[in-house]
Formats: sequence, C-alpha cells, structure tokens
Amino acid sequence: MKSNERLKQSYFDAEQVLAGHGKRDVHVLKEAFEKIDGDVESDMYGQGAVIEKFQEKMADLLGKESAVFFPSGTMAQQIALRIWCDAARIRKVAYHPLSHLEIHEEKGLQELHGIESVLLADKTRVIELEDVLQMEDEVACVLLELPQREIGGQLPSYETLEQISAHCRAQGIKLHLDGARLLEVLPYYDKTASEVCALFDSVYLSLYKGIGGIAGAILAGDKEFTDQSKVWKRRHGGDLISLYPYILSADYYFDKRSGKMAAYYEQAKELARLFNGCEGISTLPVEPVSNMFHVHFSHPKETMEALLADLHQETGIGLTSYVKELENGGSSYEVSMGDLYETVPKEKVEALFAKLNEKMKAI
Ligand SMILES: Cc1ncc(COP(=O)(O)O)c(C=O)c1O
Repeated sequence: MKSNERLKQSYFDAEQVLAGHGKRDVHVLKEAFEKIDGDVESDMYGQGAVIEKFQEKMADLLGKESAVFFPSGTMAQQIALRIWCDAARIRKVAYHPLSHLEIHEEKGLQELHGIESVLLADKTRVIELEDVLQMEDEVACVLLELPQREIGGQLPSYETLEQISAHCRAQGIKLHLDGARLLEVLPYYDKTASEVCALFDSVYLSLYKGIGGIAGAILAGDKEFTDQSKVWKRRHGGDLISLYPYILSADYYFDKRSGKMAAYYEQAKELARLFNGCEGISTLPVEPVSNMFHVHFSHPKETMEALLADLHQETGIGLTSYVKELENGGSSYEVSMGDLYETVPKEKVEALFAKLNEKMKAI
C-alpha cells in the first residue's frame, strides 16, 4: 500500500480523532432531523417560513438588514462581487493571492462575470492597511477573508480592520467579508458578529465549517443588495426548489455549536502548544487565533505519512488523513478543532504527543 493510502486507512481505522466534529456521514443528517416536526413544510424556490425565518435569524446575528441562504459560498461571493462591480461600473476587485476565489474557483469571477482580480499582500501574510493604501488600481470592492485559511488561519488586528474599513468607506470602495469562518474568530477579537460585520458592506458566512452543517452559505447586507443577490441566485440555478434539508440542518448545528467557538479556540491553542513541543514540528500561526491552524513538519511528505500511520496504529488516535508537500521540502496538514477533542482523555493526548516527539527525534 502507498504511504498516503496507508495514512488515510489508519486515520479512518483509529478509535478516536483529535480534531473536527466527526465523519460526514448519514448520522449528521439523522441527528439534525431527529427532533424536527415532520409537518414542517419545505421552502419553495427561495420562499416559505423555513427559509425566511432562518434568513432573518442570520441577518440579526450579523447585524445586517437582510440575509439570503445560498447553496454555496462560491456562488454567494461571486454574486456579491458582481453586484458591487455593476454598481460602481468598475470590473475589478481586490483580494488576497490565496483567497478562495483566486485558487479554488476555476476563475469563476473572470469567466462568468468578466471581473479582474487585483492581488493584495503576498502569499505569506494577511492584507494590511498599507496594501490597501498603496493599491494603484481602481476597484469596486475589497474582499477580506477572516481568518486567511491558506496561511493557517491568520488574522489582521482589529484596529487594522477598522482602518481598512474607514479607508474604503472614504474612497467609495465596497468592503466584502469572506467570513466562511467568522464565528470562529470572534473569541480572539472579543467582538460580536454584528460588531465585526458593521465594518463591511456585505458578508458571507459558511454553514458547514465550524458550525458543521451539511452545506450552504449566508450572504448578508442591505436589502437592496440582497434583493439583487436573489435575482443572481436564480440566474445561477441556485434557487433549488427545496433547500430545507440544508437549512434545517444548518439551523440545528448553528444552535448546537455557535456557543462553542471559544472552547474550540482554547483547544486549538492547547493542541498547537503540544505540536510545538515536538522536534521538527511547528504550527502556523504559532499561537492560533481561531479554531484552526496548520501543522508544519520539517520532514518530507512520505516520511511523515509513514510515521503518522504508525502513530495512529500504535495509539488508536487519529491526527490526519493526509499530509501535503511544502515547497521547502517539508510537509503540512490543516487542523480545525471541533466537538471531538473533548472526547479524548487528557492522558491519552499527552501519551500521543510523547510518542510523536520520540518518533520525530528518531528520524
Ligand atoms: C475561505 C472560504 N471562502 C469560500 C469558500 C467557499 O465555500 P463553498 O464550499 O460553500 O462554496 C470556502 C470553502 O472552503 C472557504 O474556505
């Protein structure tokens, strides 16, 4: 068996897992629907109590006039940027070189909407005020991703957010929040969702990251903006006749987990400290600012795949199903803390890291 397949298998065979909420299987659906009244009616093409009530709840949470449920964040954000570009009659937006739009959406913004992207900052750090101040291009919108996922979930300071927001407002540039993991960063900022969102003209929130729903996204802003987004949702085929399986499960898991983000954040800091105590391992960021971080190994992918597969088999605890190659010859994987961490006894976690450190020293 190849080392990557062995690692994957050993992870799925492990009795316990440290990160995440658990497997994405039918149990996730069953749990969400167990207590829901069978007479609750489906939404129909974006209308009906089930979708409207949830949208209102999310608009209240985010402190925006209105919110719209979308099947995906990819659809919601391209639409948000399209609306801001049409309004400004400028077909350019600015974002980070590792933003989801730039690296995971097959150039949807460019191909579907003819919108160009201006890349701010470099791949190793978050966007700072200077990057926005020094931008030479005229753009309709700046998009900030909080936290910046591809660099381990790093964040600018809250003061920087306020300054970027004030600058964009003064310049008539719209500010959009890729808040896929917005709830996850609130404990670090020590702010409410609506306080953070007040700095932005439009906001996207994912319903399946820290919240752990099945899929889906919320796009929020003022009513004129969300009304336009509904038209674009229809044009994109995003108005599925019924979205209630996604909405009801998102609502269930939102209620279950939105209050646990501070606990996930503390767990992320604890786990990162344990990784950083091992030879040849460091985390990015060194101290997490949300429930997520990246684990960096100074050894190559294949070496780590074999080592971690052995570790899984010897301890019965799974760390990761994959390891990625890094340009510097090392390797890495991503951690997002969730409900599972507290199910693993502390002694077992300590024993796991003692063993990991031993193995790292022995390479
Ligand atoms: C930061 C960020 N933005 C946008 C998206 C897109 O969300 P979706 O998978 O719902 O299209 C993701 C998904 O991973 C993401 O991590």
